[in-house]
Amino acid sequence: MGVQRTLSIAKPDAVSKNVIGEIYSRFEKAGLRIVAAKMLRLSRDQAEGFYAEHKGRPFFPALIDFMTSGPVTVQVLEGEGAVLKNRDLMGATNPKEAAAGTIRADFAESIDANAVHGSDSEESAAREIAFFFATSELCDRV
Ligand code: PPS
Repeated sequence: MGVQRTLSIAKPDAVSKNVIGEIYSRFEKAGLRIVAAKMLRLSRDQAEGFYAEHKGRPFFPALIDFMTSGPVTVQVLEGEGAVLKNRDLMGATNPKEAAAGTIRADFAESIDANAVHGSDSEESAAREIAFFFATSELCDRV
């Protein structure tokens, strides 16, 4: 598998709950390195573009409302098998089904407000990283 990069978002509910540090800490303890990070408030255009593959699904309008409801942090995680490792740390999309000790089990309230996003494949990661970051903003490992 090798060293990969993946895109992570701490969603508005996580920022509002003041648990960004706890979430970053889980990445670091799992051996993932944060190689780029920023906080921003997504515009509707940005949110709709990022989630374009879900357009037309029943939850899409609520997802866009939620993702634009407050600031988010977006970060690029780097490490061995980073895509899957981050998905494992996040837990299932629905926090009620998320394994104990995962980010969603510990910090998320519902499937609509589920604390974090993580790329689901290396291909998605490349697209999602480029959506938020210029190549010059990605820092090499020290
Ligand atoms: S699915 O159903 O397998 O396609 O779901 P997934 O690929 O995980 O992506 C769905 C994204 O929409 C968010 N979301 C919801 N999904 C399902 N049902 C409801 N009600 C819902 N509300 C929001 C879900 O968290 C996924 O977003 P990300 O940011 O990828 O976690």
